[in-house]
Amino acid sequence: MSNLDLRFLRSFLANPRRVGAAFPSSQVLAGRITDSIDFARARVIVELGPGAGAFTRQLAQRADPACRVIALELDTALAAYVAARYPRVEVVNAAAQRLPQVLAERGIGTVDAVVSGLPFANFSAEQQAAVVGAVRTVLRPGGAFVSYSFVHAQVLPTSRRFRRSLRDRFGRFDIRPVLFNAPPALVYRCVA
Ligand SMILES: C[S@@+](CC[C@H](N)C(=O)[O-])C[C@H]1O[C@@H](n2cnc3c(N)ncnc32)[C@H](O)[C@@H]1O
Repeated sequence: MSNLDLRFLRSFLANPRRVGAAFPSSQVLAGRITDSIDFARARVIVELGPGAGAFTRQLAQRADPACRVIALELDTALAAYVAARYPRVEVVNAAAQRLPQVLAERGIGTVDAVVSGLPFANFSAEQQAAVVGAVRTVLRPGGAFVSYSFVHAQVLPTSRRFRRSLRDRFGRFDIRPVLFNAPPALVYRCVA
């Protein structure tokens, strides 16, 4: 098991509902999530819930040097781990719900893309609404919000509620399966 997997597993065991997965996402899923971003044009990209950095790695590699990459992670140990591993990324130890304030503190109004690793199926209705609302508020017109959830969680009422809140805030969205992940996942992509 790699250091990355161990760091992630430790945080999962300390707080299973909040971390939401025992292992980091695969690089296939990370590729599918980050492929939704127009890297040539993006000047601000936000990541919510980077965990041990499965998506952060690709964002750090693919973002234009002129693009700011800002990651909000609630778990203090994981935030410190990602900040040390990816110095090119501005890691903030804060809740995703605080996204508009975190951006305002950095003089940023709108962003080009938001990618999320948050375990929305474990969130209360208030948490889901607060995060989806915050993302919708900061995305520029045409900007993308990309998130994922596990296939087996689709039947949960909390997953249905999450899809409803995406529909309410964004209208239409795409859903694509990614089988090369443990467990298999669905990627949701919304455009503001
Ligand atoms: C399922 S892990 C995903 C990690 C990584 N993106 C991946 O796919 O491997 C979810 C991450 O979201 C973080 N998290 C949970 N609730 C959060 C919140 N309200 N704000 C910011 N981060 C949160 C957890 O601490 C955890 O690191």
